[in-house]
Amino acid sequence: MSEETRILGIETSCDETAAAVLENGRHIVSNIVASQAEIHTEFGGVFPELASRAHIETIHQVVSSALVEAHVGLESIDAIAVTRGPGLAGSLVVGLNMAKGLAMGAGLPLLGINHLEAHLYSIWLADEDEPSFPLLALIVSGGHTELILMRDHLQYERLGGTLDDAAGEAFDKVARLLGLDYPGGPAIEEIAKDGDMDTFKFPRAWMEDTWDFSFSGLKTAVLREVRSLQPSLEAGVEAPEGDLPIADLAASFQDAVVDVLVGKTLAAAKEFEANEILVAGGVSANLSLRSSLQAKSKIPVRVPPLALCTDNAAMIAAVGHRRFLNGQRDALDIDVLPNWPLTS
Ligand code: KG4
Ligand code: ZN
Repeated sequence: MSEETRILGIETSCDETAAAVLENGRHIVSNIVASQAEIHTEFGGVFPELASRAHIETIHQVVSSALVEAHVGLESIDAIAVTRGPGLAGSLVVGLNMAKGLAMGAGLPLLGINHLEAHLYSIWLADEDEPSFPLLALIVSGGHTELILMRDHLQYERLGGTLDDAAGEAFDKVARLLGLDYPGGPAIEEIAKDGDMDTFKFPRAWMEDTWDFSFSGLKTAVLREVRSLQPSLEAGVEAPEGDLPIADLAASFQDAVVDVLVGKTLAAAKEFEANEILVAGGVSANLSLRSSLQAKSKIPVRVPPLALCTDNAAMIAAVGHRRFLNGQRDALDIDVLPNWPLTS
């Protein structure tokens, strides 16, 4: 079969409404992302009802912009790839219904895509040379922290994951208690540049003898520190006062997260004799995480380009391309899978 495809990708699993047109699995012709961050910033996290309403309001515009920018109509699209899960049910439904409507109207194949798999395949959008299997993959996003062993394309062995907060969620929650805006990851990374990471010794949960993670104890430790520095403050409700050492707190917190993510990823890569390490998902945009892994790893570390770390539809289309060529075709009555794990 010819490897030439033109895939329309659609993504609405969380708080970005996104659509993209991808050619031949690699060439991004258009990539539209409408962020809802402004809507959610006052809540310090994603407010599900507002998210689905905002998706409904913007999805038509976003999809048509992706087609217009690519200078194509649906008649030149081969398949529609849409995020089926995991994610917020009310948000996923908006994208899936849009995709079903377009697929039905234009007589196109529909492919339901796993969002975590798509984060991993964002890496194949960047590099010309193919990573060499087996790969050890770390997915770090707002909803997930997963260590995955990939022995081949579309083959996943889940080694472990977070038992409580996801890495990105920890960034978002700690940002909120430091009075920083949502999304917390970029805000913490920015202010941490002015801080000293050795100021506070926050705990590292190593979860020995497992490939699991836990970040809730770290979050509580930061909260306790903030309270002891500013006893009058009800953290998370009021914004901290000016004399709180926010930059040092942010830097020390970020260092604790990076330390554990890097330590466990390197140990798993060694244990499973991986040839390369992949890091993907929103938190993979963190330069401290990227540089620490790259400095400490003996094997190549691949990360997506910064613009493709957070949610986008080009990565959905990238998996769509691969699965379309593999023969996947989904029925038009498939439902969303809000808790869909990444398995083969
Ligand atoms: O992958 P993503 O866009 O959405 C989910 O699938 O969840 O990830 C969003 C998460 C948020 O928690 C955000 O705070 C975090 O990624 N994030 C970062 C950075 N950029 C985004 N965390 C740390 N450092 C960053 N630079
Ligand atoms: Zn994501």
